Order: sequence, then C-alpha cells, then structure tokens
Amino acid sequence: AEVQKDEDFRPNFHFTPKANWMNDPNGMFYLNGTYHLYFQYYPDDNVWGPMHWGHATSKDMITWEEQEIALYPDEKGYIFSGSAVVDKNNTSGFGEEGKTPVVAIYTYHDAEAAERKEDHQTQAIAYSLDEGMTWTKYEGNPVIPNPGLIDFRDPKVVWDDINDQWLMALATREKTLFYTSQDLKEWKKLSDFGENTGAHDGVWECPDIFPMQVEGSDETKWVLIQSLNPGGYNGGSGTQYFVGDFDGSTFTPEKNMEELEEKHPFWIDFGRDNYAGVTWSNIPDEDGRKLFLGWMSNWLYGEKVPTTTWRSSMTVARELKLVKDEDRYLVTSEPVEELQKYRSTNHVKKELNVNGNSIALTSEDLDLARAEIRFTISDLKDATYNFRLANSEGEEYIISYNHAQKQFSMNRSHAGQTGFSDKFATENATAPRISNSDSLNAIIILDKTSIEMYFDNGKTVITEIFFPNYPWDEFSFAGLEEFTVSEFQAYELEFPG
Ligand code: FRU
Repeated sequence: AEVQKDEDFRPNFHFTPKANWMNDPNGMFYLNGTYHLYFQYYPDDNVWGPMHWGHATSKDMITWEEQEIALYPDEKGYIFSGSAVVDKNNTSGFGEEGKTPVVAIYTYHDAEAAERKEDHQTQAIAYSLDEGMTWTKYEGNPVIPNPGLIDFRDPKVVWDDINDQWLMALATREKTLFYTSQDLKEWKKLSDFGENTGAHDGVWECPDIFPMQVEGSDETKWVLIQSLNPGGYNGGSGTQYFVGDFDGSTFTPEKNMEELEEKHPFWIDFGRDNYAGVTWSNIPDEDGRKLFLGWMSNWLYGEKVPTTTWRSSMTVARELKLVKDEDRYLVTSEPVEELQKYRSTNHVKKELNVNGNSIALTSEDLDLARAEIRFTISDLKDATYNFRLANSEGEEYIISYNHAQKQFSMNRSHAGQTGFSDKFATENATAPRISNSDSLNAIIILDKTSIEMYFDNGKTVITEIFFPNYPWDEFSFAGLEEFTVSEFQAYELEFPG
C-alpha cells in the first residue's frame, strides 16, 4: 500500500479547513444553538501569511461546517487573533431593531510597519448583525492604539458580571494587560500582570480570563490562561494558566503560583500540540460549562508538517473545570460529553492482565483513527507503565508513565514521518503527573494524526500529533512487572459523511 499523505491524514473529526493554512482559534461564541469558531487563516497557501479570520459552525462542537471567510486583511493590517462577544444590551450601539450585535475584537498587524521595526499592532472591532455570518469593521478603528509596545495583541473580551464591565485581557511580550470598557469602543487600561510570575522563555500570546466556581463548593476564583511561544513546558508553544483573585481591576495569583525559581507547574496541556486555546463566550447559564479548544500544532514545526492540501487542525472541544486538590487549585480538561454521542455500537470492554506486551485492541476490533479509549490502573507500583500505538511496519508512538518519578514521557521518534523538521521528534517530551492518587485513569481520543490523553479526570492532559506512514493497527499496554488494567472500554466513533 502507498504511504499516507495529505488527504489520508485529514482528521476524521478534528476541525481542519478544506484547504491551506490555519493557526489559532479566534472569536468563539455560542448563539441560538450554534457554536462559532473563527480561526487564523491564510487561504492562499499552506504556510502562514496575511491573516484572515476563517469561520466554521457546529451544533455540538464536534461536527463542523466551514463557512465563508469572515474577516479579510485591509490597509490597516492583517487580522490577528482575538475574540467575539454577543452584545445583548447593545452597549456598543451597533444593534438594530430586532438584531443583536455580535462584536469581534481583534488585532491589526501592520506588516510593513513591523518590517520597519515600528509599533505595528493595534486593537480593533467589527460587528455582525446576522449572528456571525458577515461582518462590518468599525470606522473608528483602532479602538486601542499602540502605546509603544512591539508585541501587543490577541484581545480576549468577556462580560464581567461581577464588576459590570467589559474586561479585556491582552498580551504583550512578558505580561497580560487588562482593559475595561462599557461600550467596547472606548477602553481604559486597568493593570498588568505577570512580569515576575509564570513561564517567560518566550512571548506571551492569546490570554483568556474568567471566573469559575470551584467544583463542589461555593467558592469563585478567577482563571487566567496565558499561552507563550516559545517556552512551553516541552519548549516551543504552550499554554500555562494561573488561578487567583480579580478585584475588578487587578489579578492576584494564588501564592503557590508565584514562585519563579521552579519551572511553572500549571499548564492546560503538557503535550507538544495544543496552543493558543481559549474559551467560548455566551454559553447560556443553564449550560454553565467552560468550553475550550486549541490549535493542535506548534510553531516549532507547524508550517512543515507533512500535509500540503490542509495544514493543522484544532483539538477536540474540552470542558474545563476548576478543582481543589489538596492545597492546589487546578484547571482540568476533558473532552466535551457531546463526543460520546458519536460512539458506535462497535466497542470492546474487558479487564486486562498485562504481562510484557499485551495487545488491548487491534484494527480488527475497531478503527484506531476514530476511537475513544478509557481505562484505569489501580494500585500503582514504583514501576513504568507503557501505552503504545503501533502498525505492522514497526512504527510506534509510546507514552510511558513512571510512577516512581510521577512522570509521563512521550516518544514519537519512530511514529512515522519525522524528517520534515528536526524539532519534531528529537527530544523525549515529558509531563508531570499532577494527581497524587495511587490509581490512574485515562481517556484517550484518537484521530488519524493525533492522540489526546486525559489522565486523572483531566489533571494531566497531553495532546500530540504524529504522521504514521500506515494507519495504526494495534494499541497495547506493556511493563516489566505484571499489572492489571480495569474498566478498559474502547469505542469506535462514527461520523456522518
Ligand atoms: C499565536 C499568534 C498570535 C497572533 C497570531 C498570528 O499563535 O502568534 O499571537 O495573533 O498567532 O497568526
């Protein structure tokens, strides 16, 4: 058989544009039964270029329909990342009789000014009166001029109903900046955060801020998501977070999130392929979930991955929760429950006794390029537990959990095509196990070129991509010592058309 490429690699259910280049998710909002996803898009080539906002819609965040391009670059610049809000009370005045405005807030990137090494990023708005299908740019743009900062971008706006304000988080090189507004047009700077906190081996980008209720309590804390590139947990692109308090103008992190001496331990995802993720706005109160999705790639090699017709996809949509674990506040993520609607009748359930290498699933059982796997390993010993995808050509992707070190490591150096970038597979990547439990549970979501692993109810999440020359045809467990895998369940996922 021919080796896989291009369309063979196109995901079964992760969103990807029909053609060409995509990076960050942008402007995600929900309205009248539809989830909107915009994205950094270059429609004319399969590498980054003058940015547009592409657009896709979904009824359930799983099956996506690509729409017309929403925003085109213009004389003020490329359209960089940003957010969108549903302006129910027409605070912006863009609304018309019976038409609620949706307002997008984005960064203009003036590429020529950038080349001259001048300030080149400003914040601008656009509005839609047809629920996000077509947009009009505001004539008074930019709404926030550049104050003399080279990196000044990615506005994420939320309605802060605790303090009755539109609140914007904006990223500059080493800080998150906060701004306030009543009408989305006039903005005033409140404060900044982060200069001496968190990971800083790169440029801060794509922030998000919102209050969350701590699971099982009445306590509310604020979560600040802050991507950076490079300087992620495994180098390259990554998304850290902070939990703390916000008094309407200043964000103060929990004490244990302040230390700089140590490597920042709080990350939305420890894998190499989840970047610039943010949350959906306007989720109805009766739903109340915090819903998140990220770009499933990394600036280290995103432009070089071995697909040409399309390039890069998004993660599966995830539900974030804030939990208190011993004395720490943790943001967890798990795939949205809507994904379970796509389970087909084709599934496998068993208990497994692992001795050496034990094959748990083969491609005869179900298609490993659209699968959900769940399992638990109880009574962890000071041993190493291996989880492995392999094909008949001897290619393999391995993730190991070393319980003595409480560390996962991910190895894709033999997982198929790797030569397109020397940054893709050289080093072993690692992830700390956050939970202290002696029982490990996992959800694994497989598509053609990705694995998403959610351990311990989403306390350690690892998302990675790979490009096997032939489809995976087995999933196995391995270890030097015998162990038992309980509650092993695997489902084939079935998608329309
Ligand atoms: C993050 C990012 C953003 C920027 C966009 C440009 O991946 O660099 O900071 O707005 O991509 O496409």
